[in-house]
Amino acid sequence: MAFIKWTDQFSVGIVEIDNQHKVLVKLINKLFDAMADGQANIILNEILNEMARYTQVHFATEEKCFAAFNYEGSEAHIDEHQQFIDTVMKFKTRFEAGNIVLSFEVFKFLKSWLVNHIQGSDKKYSECFIANGLK
Ligand SMILES: [Fe+2]
Ligand SMILES: [Fe+2]
Repeated sequence: MAFIKWTDQFSVGIVEIDNQHKVLVKLINKLFDAMADGQANIILNEILNEMARYTQVHFATEEKCFAAFNYEGSEAHIDEHQQFIDTVMKFKTRFEAGNIVLSFEVFKFLKSWLVNHIQGSDKKYSECFIANGLK
């Protein structure tokens, strides 16, 4: 499983949101690089903390727009965000309790969740957000 290469396929057509997604991609790729260097366990905690922190910022941006624009897919989408946060928190709890958390397992989860979520659920709001003046 390779690192994430940003291409236009990830774009939701809104600059601020694309930029936030790029921050998440960068964070996941940082974990990938660390795995390649055999350093992943050293930074895994930092990646999980930063992931938990920054996704709150990012999800809040999307969810504020859902409310402002009365987005119809809001409820299911917010559920997906919550499930993501729950899984990251579980990884963090396991790590902090001294249990072995495999960095590859975390990487695989983060990568597949983000790629699927952006290309599936996030892209669905593009039309609505753009119609409401975002660009
Ligand atoms: Fe989302
Ligand atoms: Fe997103």
